[in-house]
Amino acid sequence: MLIEAHAKINLTLAVGDVRPDGYHDLKSVVAPISLCDLVALDAADDIIDASGIDFGMENLAVKAARVLRREAGVANGVRMRIEKRIPSGAGLGGGSADAAATLLGLNSLWGLDWDRSRLVDLAAEVGSDVPALVHGGIVMMEGRGERVGKWLGEKPDMRPLVLLKPRVHASTPAVYSEFRAEDRGMGVNDLQPAACRLYPEIARALQILSGAGGEEAMMTGSGSVVFARAKDRAEAERILERLPGEDWKTIAEIMP
Ligand code: C5P
Repeated sequence: MLIEAHAKINLTLAVGDVRPDGYHDLKSVVAPISLCDLVALDAADDIIDASGIDFGMENLAVKAARVLRREAGVANGVRMRIEKRIPSGAGLGGGSADAAATLLGLNSLWGLDWDRSRLVDLAAEVGSDVPALVHGGIVMMEGRGERVGKWLGEKPDMRPLVLLKPRVHASTPAVYSEFRAEDRGMGVNDLQPAACRLYPEIARALQILSGAGGEEAMMTGSGSVVFARAKDRAEAERILERLPGEDWKTIAEIMP
């Protein structure tokens, strides 16, 4: 079974107070984008990651398989291979996308037949961004990320996006601890000022993207990727060509 694991961007991100569990309450409109990893899942005796990639931290797809196996009370295994295209430390939910694809894929591979809302509830245990990506479509995410529902507000701007990743890996815990109440409402993403203070490369990437013609440049999640709108695909290609050659960059579309 081969599944596309789509990245996400945060179209808005409002940070609330710190909760007793140390996480911040959030309100964020999250949209899946066309950029994706490929996740291959095959039945096996144990849970094995055959990707041959150093994920640098816990592989959330393996965690997702373990959590699902425990909660479903089954003894199945899976051999997974992940082809990474989504950069990490980017605010694109790459690891969460792999985990969400794994939950959805194993639900079918293991013949569990859980409905999606049950998978969404379980997803929160795997990671804050996983419920939104299991739900699918454009969602309003609340709490730590565990409460998700179809976005019923104004239709987002669906013009093509240009994404640029400065050569810095943003640490989510570091960005949240740098966050100050005064940062709220400074832009569309409340974490952007904190991320720019910690990583000046992000502030520079925003300037570069705007300077290249990107509209409404902003950061996704806790960074470090920044994105902007282009009026159409041809304009997005022109903007992309004006960006520094050595940085990771791509064009993507929001998936409805
Ligand atoms: O959920 P994730 O593992 O991405 O979170 C990493 C860290 O980011 C958490 O340990 C916490 O410090 C911070 N965080 C937060 N509030 C959130 C999500 C993450 O404070 N809603």
